[in-house]
Amino acid sequence: MAGRIPQDFINDLIDRSDIVEILQTRIQLKKAGREYKACCPFHGEKTPSFTVSPEKGFYHCFGCGAHGTVIGFLMEHDRLEFVEAVEELASINGVDVVHEAGNKPTTPAAPLYELLDQAAQLFREELRSSDKAITYLKQRHLDGETAGRFRIGYAPGGWNYLLKHFGGSETGQEHLLKTGMILRNEEGRVYDRFRDRIMFPIRDSRGRVVGFGGRVLDHGEPKYLNSPETPVFHKGRELYGLYEARRANRKLKHLLVVEGYMDVVALACHGINNAVATLGTATTTDHLQRLFRATNEIIFCFDGDRAGRDAAWRALQITLPELREGRQARFLFLADGQDPDSVVSEQGAEAFNQQLAQSLPLSDYLLQQLKSGIDLSSVDGLARLAELARPMVNLIPEGVYRELLLGRLADEIGLSTQRLATLLDNPPAANPTYAAPRSKPKNTTNQRSSHIRHAIKLVLHHPAAAKDLALPEGFEALTNPGISLLKELLTAAAKTPKMKPGRLAENFAEHQDGGRALQTLLTQEVHLDNESNWDIELRDTLNAILREALEYRHNELIAQADSPDGLSDTEKTEFRELPQQLARLRHGIS
Ligand code: UTP
Ligand code: MN
Repeated sequence: MAGRIPQDFINDLIDRSDIVEILQTRIQLKKAGREYKACCPFHGEKTPSFTVSPEKGFYHCFGCGAHGTVIGFLMEHDRLEFVEAVEELASINGVDVVHEAGNKPTTPAAPLYELLDQAAQLFREELRSSDKAITYLKQRHLDGETAGRFRIGYAPGGWNYLLKHFGGSETGQEHLLKTGMILRNEEGRVYDRFRDRIMFPIRDSRGRVVGFGGRVLDHGEPKYLNSPETPVFHKGRELYGLYEARRANRKLKHLLVVEGYMDVVALACHGINNAVATLGTATTTDHLQRLFRATNEIIFCFDGDRAGRDAAWRALQITLPELREGRQARFLFLADGQDPDSVVSEQGAEAFNQQLAQSLPLSDYLLQQLKSGIDLSSVDGLARLAELARPMVNLIPEGVYRELLLGRLADEIGLSTQRLATLLDNPPAANPTYAAPRSKPKNTTNQRSSHIRHAIKLVLHHPAAAKDLALPEGFEALTNPGISLLKELLTAAAKTPKMKPGRLAENFAEHQDGGRALQTLLTQEVHLDNESNWDIELRDTLNAILREALEYRHNELIAQADSPDGLSDTEKTEFRELPQQLARLRHGIS
């Protein structure tokens, strides 16, 4: 396989693409002023709230919150993986995808896929002739049709089964090592990783075998052995059973996330063909994005034990940022000691489906967890609930879903949604617009100063304003929430002032200092104080941020000077110099 696709190529591709033209071939767009409108393809609606801005190179739905560049649209709408969407966009534009030359993997991936496929084939054949393996699978109630569909096989005992087949040449051995199918010990001797195990091939979205899970037939340890991370296999991305589920049904109403290989396969034996499992790791954001690309509803199935409940809470946290109208997540907790395999094998599909029907919607589960251990009849209890809810609610993108959840929470606490929103935005305990450097950093949009928010909006909507900008003296040293994002945006915009806002927002979407909020800011209007002079507005806003920070610091030092601790020598110097610095700043602005 070729090397990575360079970011510059992708950026160019987005910039040169006409988002309207490409969306037009997929949905009905209507011109409305400088933008285009349509009924949102991602949630059911009768009045159009989906808008496309050719200037920003960006789409956004005010109903469900879906948004992104043309690549994001292709991923969501055509249900493509990222690389597939880039390939599609390149072909629309009539260009070939460029791959990084200098960064070429030493071993091309094609032979690795080839080898893994052949290994899966061999394991299939071995299964057919192994009484021991067949007996084991029968005892676990696995039928032949399902075993075939999942290409389940058997790796015979001994140390050199695959080595005998593929290890004859130096390249053969190299490929076996690269795929993790053989290991090298300290003396340099090589041997098969999977011996005397039931083999579950793990397939990527295109159906290619990228790794294996292998189960012992008895009580040996470890129970499951998995392929290591390799150039073609990344545990944090792949989901066991996703390829098979999508092949069984392209329009999946929902997907079940279960814990083990056997759960996926046992459910499939009972006609439940929409289960996937992570590969012995916690669910990641990558996983979730892939799942939500394949379906709108995810049901997490966890064991009822402590570990299962912890895993559920983690899954909830990473699900929140992905939520929006039309998407749903539910949680099913099985009885302690049960897993989907045991339920379906002992009680049948009907019983399992009944349990599924009673799974908790995410909002119920969230409220239940937040409320546990809190006395809601007391004012303190209500305040505590609001306090606990804030970081959770802030993880959800702004939009209808968040509003709905706020509404439920408000009902629960007995406040109006408006009051609750204010409470969440402005915690009564600490409400400085500038968080003191020593307080815990909180990376939420809401705690960001309105000036910082405004500055971010300015750069985002008009990157060219950052072109010849000189940062005010002392600005570099600021550390308030949102500042690091702002600084990096300024640098990126100064470097490429012609960049389209949509791409700028997308490039920073993963930024930990609140990058996700950028897409929302992009959809908001910008009001300029300085009649459409973006450069001056930006400069003034940066000065205002600095001034606000210095004033805050000044007040903090005043308070500290009065306290029993007093001021240290450096703080005294700072205290003396601050007023002058502030005066210069006020003067400079006028
Ligand atoms: P479990 O231990 O819950 O096993 O592991 P299970 O799914 O019920 O398996 P059976 O029914 O005994 O066959 C759940 C998942 O955790 C990972 C595997 O992905 C497994 O499917 N795991 C478990 C490992 O990677 N290694 C192990 O040793 C055990
Ligand atoms: Mn099990």
